[in-house]
Amino acid sequence: MLGMVGPTMQARSKLLVVSNRGPINFVRADDGSVQARRGAGGLIVTLGPGAQRDGALWLAAATTAAEREGGSEGPVSSGGFNYLPVAIEPDDYRAYYDVVANQTLWFCLHGLWDHPRRPRFDRHWWEAWGRYRAANEAFAMAVCEAAGPDAAVLVQDYQLALVPALVKARRPDIGLSTFLHTPWCSPQELRTLPDEVRVEVLSGLAGGGPVGFHTSRWAEAFAACCHEELGHPVETFVAPAGTDRDDLTGVAGSDACGRALQELDEVVGDRQLIVRVDRIEPSKNVLRGFWAFDELLESRPDLRGRVVFAAMVYPSRVGLSEYQAYGQEVLSLADRVNEKWATPGWTPVLVDPADDYPRSVAALRRYDVLLVNPVRDGMNLVAKEGPLVNQRDGTLVLSHEAGAWAELSEHAFGVNPFDVTHTAAALEQALEAPADDRRRRAAGLKVAAGAITPLDWFDRLLEQARRAHPAGESAG
Ligand code: F6P
Repeated sequence: MLGMVGPTMQARSKLLVVSNRGPINFVRADDGSVQARRGAGGLIVTLGPGAQRDGALWLAAATTAAEREGGSEGPVSSGGFNYLPVAIEPDDYRAYYDVVANQTLWFCLHGLWDHPRRPRFDRHWWEAWGRYRAANEAFAMAVCEAAGPDAAVLVQDYQLALVPALVKARRPDIGLSTFLHTPWCSPQELRTLPDEVRVEVLSGLAGGGPVGFHTSRWAEAFAACCHEELGHPVETFVAPAGTDRDDLTGVAGSDACGRALQELDEVVGDRQLIVRVDRIEPSKNVLRGFWAFDELLESRPDLRGRVVFAAMVYPSRVGLSEYQAYGQEVLSLADRVNEKWATPGWTPVLVDPADDYPRSVAALRRYDVLLVNPVRDGMNLVAKEGPLVNQRDGTLVLSHEAGAWAELSEHAFGVNPFDVTHTAAALEQALEAPADDRRRRAAGLKVAAGAITPLDWFDRLLEQARRAHPAGESAG
């Protein structure tokens, strides 16, 4: 249901959440009217429960005509969220989101550069940087206008790196914390960015209040970059995110998930099942996962016909050429592995590129081994979601480079994500772990994965924002 909250509430907002992607999408219905739908993506899972509980005003980018129209009269209330779209013209959005946030900052933070070719800071890039700055200005203005006196503001992620300092400079009365869902890179890797850009990004993030990360590793890397570039210490905090167990068990118990599980069971039969659930995203390391499976089938002929690898990999950031090319490589590698090993009645690799959450949860219920092998990842909630719904004492093969490693390492089979042979060996060990070891690991994973709820996490961010308020904890 879509309803207008109205400008009075906007003026009185005591708590604001600010992110690029919002909790609501606006779509145009057949009759031409604009309707609100719950948004997709990981951020809503993590931030949603706290924003709903506390009635936060959530500011996010409106880029399509329908989105701009939907929010043209002020905040909108829908599905338990109060949402205020920040209008950004489509061309500006492409420069801000595609070129600077995703092709540059994302690649830098995840260590994904292809150094002989990328990055390339040419005049087109510098023009995009100007638009990134303007989009961050637009967000900061919207925050300053919507925040009531002494409000708490929770800024999310690298798309909005300049917002914290811009807000704080104009509204010192606000208590603000910033959270990065990404990893952070070393000072040496950050030096790929032009001098003025890295100083502006670091001072933009650190200039508004404490900056949080999912693990101490990323927080320490950020502090080291600030020390080197800004020459002074900055305030950081560590708050690992949790997943919404109730929401997940609700989906796991749904008819759609039950049907998907039945379909999967029919295909897999009594074979063992390796599963991965990921956006098609270079940092997720989908290719090395397939290479490792190929190497396992090569070295263990007896496993041929006895194991299936289901890759639930769904499209992401499809406007970017790097993502399109990577998606093509993923599909063609899966085809090559199948051409090499398939027999009548056995398809070794199943690729499901549909963004269908109940189907992904069905695969998580059914896996014997869950593969989470990102080259670098802020947290990776799949590593937590899997153990919470899995019904088979499934084991977890987990990259040392995922933020989740800090909490789950004791119960997982760890891998260096670049080492294909080691990943093949870890898959082998995880498939063949004895029943009592599987049981012990699965029980440990369930406890560790469910230890922090999204509300616990939201409270940590809020506490940091209030602590950063000039009047301390008494604010808000
Ligand atoms: O991990 C960083 C992040 O921005 C998350 O907050 C989000 O869920 C994910 O990447 C996907 O981002 P996008 O909104 O670009 O699809």
